[in-house]
Amino acid sequence: MGWLSWEKFRCNVDCTHDPANCISEHLFLETADRMVEDGFQDAGYEYVIIDDCWLAKERNGDGKLQPDPDRFPAGMPAFARYLHDRDLKFGIYGDIGTKTCGGYPGMAEHLKRDAQTYADWGVDYLKVDGCYADTDTYSETYPELGAALNATGRSIVYSCSWPAYLPDPVQTGFQIPYRALRKHCNLWRNWLDIQSDWASLKSIIIFWAEASLHSKGFTDVAGPGAFNDPDMLIIGNEGITDDQAKLQMGAWAIFAAPLIMGNDVRNLTETQRAILLNRDVIAIDQDPAGRQGSLVKCVGSCEEGQVWKRQLHNGDLVVGIFNLKNSASRELCVSWDELEMGADSVYKTFEPYQKCGETVPLPGSCCPIGFSCLPHPDEGILKCSENANATFAFAPSS
Ligand code: DGJ
Repeated sequence: MGWLSWEKFRCNVDCTHDPANCISEHLFLETADRMVEDGFQDAGYEYVIIDDCWLAKERNGDGKLQPDPDRFPAGMPAFARYLHDRDLKFGIYGDIGTKTCGGYPGMAEHLKRDAQTYADWGVDYLKVDGCYADTDTYSETYPELGAALNATGRSIVYSCSWPAYLPDPVQTGFQIPYRALRKHCNLWRNWLDIQSDWASLKSIIIFWAEASLHSKGFTDVAGPGAFNDPDMLIIGNEGITDDQAKLQMGAWAIFAAPLIMGNDVRNLTETQRAILLNRDVIAIDQDPAGRQGSLVKCVGSCEEGQVWKRQLHNGDLVVGIFNLKNSASRELCVSWDELEMGADSVYKTFEPYQKCGETVPLPGSCCPIGFSCLPHPDEGILKCSENANATFAFAPSS
């Protein structure tokens, strides 16, 4: 869990005209402060990650990577100390090719040297992009860099963009090398970059459902230390409603996705902050078993409605019901049989929802199935409002 600069701040290097928002020390120090002050760190968001465009245009005289001296005058070890003094962790970005996507020096031909530089700086997380490289070389270069990082002796989370640049497994049937990803990387971006709008968020959720159905190994590959990554949380940015933000948070939790915010933490509404800090949903996302949720079914098509379930370490089952229709409230039905739930189970709701036209007012209420919340022990009919998400946790009754 953490925060990454790309989605909101992109490659803004114009510190003359936009000093508060350009990719510079200032932005990352302010973000770190707000993560501590506003409760993000307490909730588990700990990595402060610098994305592209932090580098100087050239390596230094010794051939080492160096930050842009005007925008990062104190240097990276000082930034790392600032974060570590506050119990935050330091993430940074590199590229496996000859240049980063933004045109800054890449790591190709320098993997060992750069891994050591990052370790010397106190880096805790490295995102490695795949621009300016032949994708056929990934199966050698990404593992080679992983080995170089391990050889430094420093514990560094390794985020690979490897599959994001391979052919789309849903469209083309391409077999993604999940076993290799699991072995060499800690997380990996599977698909297209998220953008701060509903169409993009929805397309990723649809891809997740289609990949669950058609990309062999996609669901099972996830586990502690190895996760599929649907990209940043866009909660806090213009372009999605609060309901859509809740849907992203719930979906990412069921997907066992990294929770990396891509917003401006200095400018959030109370509601956006509450969605990002929802402890129940975070606990589901961070469940120690690390199992990725699986698709129970699509309702209509996977573009309209989806039902997911995720098994937690203690035997609880979390169910997510997503209404992806843009302008319609509708009933999405799932039976206890489809969820493989016994009629003696109890459940807890995380969102208010309606059943058969009747509102169940209190999220968090605990109801034995077949008693006060649902009319039939063998069928749950849950009504989701526009783009809303109903997330449930089931526990075997004792
Ligand atoms: C492509 C990646 O997918 C994005 O997340 C971001 O890192 C940009 N490159 C940076 O250039």
